Amino acid sequence: MELTVAVTGASGSIYAQRTLVQLAASGEVERVNLITSQSALVVARVELGAALREGDAGALNEWLGLPADSKLVRWHRLDNMAAVPASGSHPQAGMIVVPCSMGTLGAIASGAGTNLIHRAADVTLKEGRRLVVVPRESPYNAIHLENMLRLSRAGARILPASPAFYHRPQTITEMVDHLVFRILDQFNVPHTRATAWKEETP
Ligand SMILES: Cc1cc2nc3c(=O)[nH]c(=O)nc-3n(C[C@H](O)[C@H](O)[C@H](O)COP(=O)(O)O)c2cc1C
Repeated sequence: MELTVAVTGASGSIYAQRTLVQLAASGEVERVNLITSQSALVVARVELGAALREGDAGALNEWLGLPADSKLVRWHRLDNMAAVPASGSHPQAGMIVVPCSMGTLGAIASGAGTNLIHRAADVTLKEGRRLVVVPRESPYNAIHLENMLRLSRAGARILPASPAFYHRPQTITEMVDHLVFRILDQFNVPHTRATAWKEETP
């Protein structure tokens, strides 16, 4: 399976990191087309101390715990409209925007995108492929909510970065991974931990 993962400048870089780690661990995904916004790299530095520069595959693989020579993740330049995710003729399963800032959400919802993230999301929708958007802001204003509704009506799955607690997470990683597994479920990518609710007697 091939997928595009876009990381934008909303809070929650750890969701992006764990999504990439779990896609790699699934054994089901052969190629991830990664696109990062400039703000995504700023937020990753603030939140996780990650020293990432666009296109630096070595640093990225180290950040993800992948072998230094791993070719699983192909990092595309944000301004490269000739990259494969920009074309609907390039076959792939779909795209995940995690986390998704309100700026990127608005650009995709308006259809007036200006970078490779916006274009790849537009292509994913027009090709009828799965687009999973993981928005993060608090509180949401009416524009944010309208943009989410618009995207949902266009076929996107809106999977907000709202952690669940019913599985009693003991660590931040467990809390984050629960959401990440829900993202993987959208593509039927297998994962190690069951997220399905198991009925309990009250
Ligand atoms: C530390 C930090 C946290 C941020 N958190 C959010 C957030 O949760 N949601 C959001 O929409 N924007 C957030 N922003 C602002 C976005 O990064 C900013 O609007 C940026 O222009 C988004 O651009 P992008 O969509 O190209 O990444 C944050 C910025 C910083 C520096």
